[in-house]
Amino acid sequence: MNEEIEQIRQQALSELEQAGDADSIRALSVKYLGRKGRVTGFLRNISELPADQRPAAGKRANEIKRELESAFNAALNRLSGQKEEEKQAIDVSLPGRQAPLGTMHPITRVTRLISRVFERMGFGIAEGPEVESDYYNFEALNIPKNHPARDMQDTFYVSDNVVLRTHTSPIQVRYMESRQPPVRVIAPGKVFRCDSDLTHTPMFHQVEGLVVDEKVSFGDLKGTLTAFVHQVFDRHTSLRFRPSFFPFTEPSAEVDIQCVICRGSGCKVCSDTGWLEVLGCGMVHPAVFENVGYDTNRYSGFAFGMGVERIAMLKYGINDIRMFFENDIRFLRQF
Ligand code: PHE
Repeated sequence: MNEEIEQIRQQALSELEQAGDADSIRALSVKYLGRKGRVTGFLRNISELPADQRPAAGKRANEIKRELESAFNAALNRLSGQKEEEKQAIDVSLPGRQAPLGTMHPITRVTRLISRVFERMGFGIAEGPEVESDYYNFEALNIPKNHPARDMQDTFYVSDNVVLRTHTSPIQVRYMESRQPPVRVIAPGKVFRCDSDLTHTPMFHQVEGLVVDEKVSFGDLKGTLTAFVHQVFDRHTSLRFRPSFFPFTEPSAEVDIQCVICRGSGCKVCSDTGWLEVLGCGMVHPAVFENVGYDTNRYSGFAFGMGVERIAMLKYGINDIRMFFENDIRFLRQF
């Protein structure tokens, strides 16, 4: 009778050796140690043995029961330990994960393009505050308080004497205040106007330009801006200077370029005129020079100001300015 329990033990151990996963080990545990298992059954039937064999058989069967219990448990533990190790192992031969890269915003791109073109012509770069005093934004630029010229720009007032700058022209004044000619700078930056539609946003970007020296003429202004347009668009783009008015320049002009879409024959984008307005410019008004203490008999100069969004829209054929600020990844990825 002892042979029977030894056989059960042998069989259980050899089946355990074959068992490759946790489920089959658990099944073996049920098969041998469960309520209807073979070891359990053997123990239950001990009472049928001759009385003198019962103690030894019972003792041995209980030993085997404990041995199998711990063998099954050990096998299960070994398996889950292996899994942990597999999880923690680092496969150094796998290719690295690439972090997604962003792209430069089209407005940053065009601002840099414009700056590069002027830097090549010898211009430096100046900056100024976005929250500006009424003096620098208007008065020093020959736009007195209550003057109708203030209507040209819808202004965000922070207080009576503080505004969000409506253009980059106050940087001209700040720059000239702190040094003597010759001056050759551009000033890129954000500007603010209370205006919002297909072609206007309350915040947009401008690049201002200023040149002051002895004998600077309108011819220098035309030459500089022509070279600029030819580099930012292409060498065959013609431009025209149309008389205009700005309080801080005299004479003043607006520059139109030949329509980049129809090349001058007339289309929707240029309202059938063949021309697109790109910037304002002129010879610095003597009143501005006087405000910064420059000798108006000795020095002359020109200034210009352009909208970066406008240049970018023309360059890339974008017809809604708001797309620049919606942060739609599908739009931004195209640049
Ligand atoms: N500041 C003007 C504007 O924002 C543009 C300009 C700059 C015109 C310099 C002339 C000279 O409309």
